[in-house]
Amino acid sequence: MLSPLAVMPEHHKRGIGSALVRHGLKALAERAVPLVFLEGDPGYYSRFGFVPGGDQGFRKPSLRIPDGAFQAIRLPDYEPWMTGTLVYAEPFWRHDAVGLRDPSIAPRWCPCCDVMRRPGGAAPPGCPGGRTSARPRDR
Ligand SMILES: CC(C)(COP(=O)(O)OP(=O)(O)OC[C@H]1O[C@@H](n2cnc3c(N)ncnc32)[C@H](O)[C@@H]1OP(=O)(O)O)[C@@H](O)C(=O)NCCC(=O)NCCS
Repeated sequence: MLSPLAVMPEHHKRGIGSALVRHGLKALAERAVPLVFLEGDPGYYSRFGFVPGGDQGFRKPSLRIPDGAFQAIRLPDYEPWMTGTLVYAEPFWRHDAVGLRDPSIAPRWCPCCDVMRRPGGAAPPGCPGGRTSARPRDR
C-alpha cells in the first residue's frame, strides 16, 4: 500500500508528492515487489501509471472505497497469476483508515459527463448536474 500520502498544504505544488510517489515506486520495484495499491484521487495518481484496480481484476478491501479510488500499478515483477482481493493489515481497520468515513461525501458518477463528481461539485454548462448516481456497476 502506498497511501495514505500527504504533503503539508504550505508545501503543495513543489513536486514533493510526485517525488515521494516516484521514489516509493522505484524502491519497491528494486525489491521485486510486484504490485502497489493505493486509495486516492485518480486525477492525481494516473500520472504515475496507477489505474483502477477493479479494471485489472483486483477486488477492493472495502465497499467504502469508491471504485475509482481503488488503484493499482503493476511493477516489472508482476505475474498474471497475481490476482484476487486486497486485504488490509489490521492497523488500517484499528485506526478507521479504510475508505470514506462518511458515504455522503463520496464522489458520485454523472451519467451525462461520465465522470465522478463530489456532491455539490460544479457541473459544466448543459449538464443537469445534481443527477449523479452510484456507478452502474456498484448497484
Ligand atoms: C496529493 C498531494 C500529496 C500532492 O502533493 P504535492 O506535493 O502538492 O504534489 P506535486 O507538487 O508533485 O504535484 C502537484 C500537482 O498535482 C495536482 N493535484 C494535487 N491533487 C490533485 C488531485 N486530487 N487531482 C488532480 N490533481 C491534483 C496539483 O494541482 C498540481 O498540479 P500542477 O503540477 O499542474 O500544478 C497533496 O495535494 C496532498 O497532501 N493532498 C491532501 C492529501 C491527499 O489527498 N492525499 C492523496 C490521497 S492518499
